[in-house]
Amino acid sequence: MSFQNKVVFVAGGTSGINLGIAEVFAEDGARVVVLSRNQERVDAAVAHLRGMGGEAMGFAADVRQYQALSDAMAATVTAWGPIDVLISGAAGNFVVPAAELSANGFKTVIDIDLLGAFNVMRAALPHLRKPGASIVNISAPQSTQPTPHQIHVCAAKAGADQVTRVAAMEWGPMGVRVNAISPGPIADTEGMRRLAPTPASEKAWTQSVPLRRFGTKREIGLVARWLCSEEASYINGVVLPVDGGFALGGSSAQAHNMHA
Ligand code: NAP
Ligand code: COA
Repeated sequence: MSFQNKVVFVAGGTSGINLGIAEVFAEDGARVVVLSRNQERVDAAVAHLRGMGGEAMGFAADVRQYQALSDAMAATVTAWGPIDVLISGAAGNFVVPAAELSANGFKTVIDIDLLGAFNVMRAALPHLRKPGASIVNISAPQSTQPTPHQIHVCAAKAGADQVTRVAAMEWGPMGVRVNAISPGPIADTEGMRRLAPTPASEKAWTQSVPLRRFGTKREIGLVARWLCSEEASYINGVVLPVDGGFALGGSSAQAHNMHA
């Protein structure tokens, strides 16, 4: 498995899980592009990836702005050639009861997580290596598990999973595979700082994972790299949980509580 000189574009790649994925490709010799809204965060991520010894560049753009995405993809191809791997993981989340969520708050998360996921894939399509490119969208357990105070994220990520599946059907004939990874709770991420802000809530989350720990960004990165490799060349249209068994539901936590 080698991504030496392959072009890897990571939307939302300046922090957290997505930067962890970028690092794993970078250490395998890939040329990595990161994109997010904030120029300083883009510059810091590019410097970090270059510091690992590889080639990296970045673009400040919002996944809600289609033309900006399209321009970034085109500039990537001009510099380095067609995109071999597209990781799409830009997202926004906050914890709020549905009764207190404004229409614009709901729309904001739909626009970033669902419309943004489509925008990234659609803008990339003309610039992907065909055949051979691989897309990995970053989903979440909320896409299948109704989760209180997460009505916006549940709706957006469920929709994004269907975008993954339909694109896999339509773009498979072009030689483009489209899959998703659904991470469980991952340590040291903004997502979990928002969902588990206290030691007590962090403990409760841990107890709901059959492996009884949070995952690491590297564990997600390694699976993403494998999913884009020749070793996974017949996998198309899956949403793969990488979550220590979290998606299996509440039975594990209940069993633990019964014997606690
Ligand atoms: P994070 O560090 O906040 O990553 C989000 C990234 O997206 C940042 O680079 C952010 O940079 C960028 N971004 C946000 N809004 C954007 C927009 N409108 N346009 C372009 N870029 C945007 O969060 P994370 O917790 O690692 O989450 C990363 C992904 O994993 C998300 O898709 C999330 O749903 C998924 N996930 C996370 C967990 C977890 O345990 N953390 C579990 C399951 C799934 P800027 O602020 O500079 O734009
Ligand atoms: N609770 C309730 N509503 C909230 C909220 C919160 N914590 N945060 C934002 N909103 C609402 C705002 O009130 C606004 O709605 P309104 O116009 O009806 O008042 C709407 O959401 C948009 O807010 P705004 O701050 O303008 O959005 P933004 O586009 O600047 O930022 C967010 C997007 C809100 C998702 C922001 O949290 C973000 O940038 N997140 C990225 C990092 C992240 O979430 N990481 C974890 C990934 S899983």
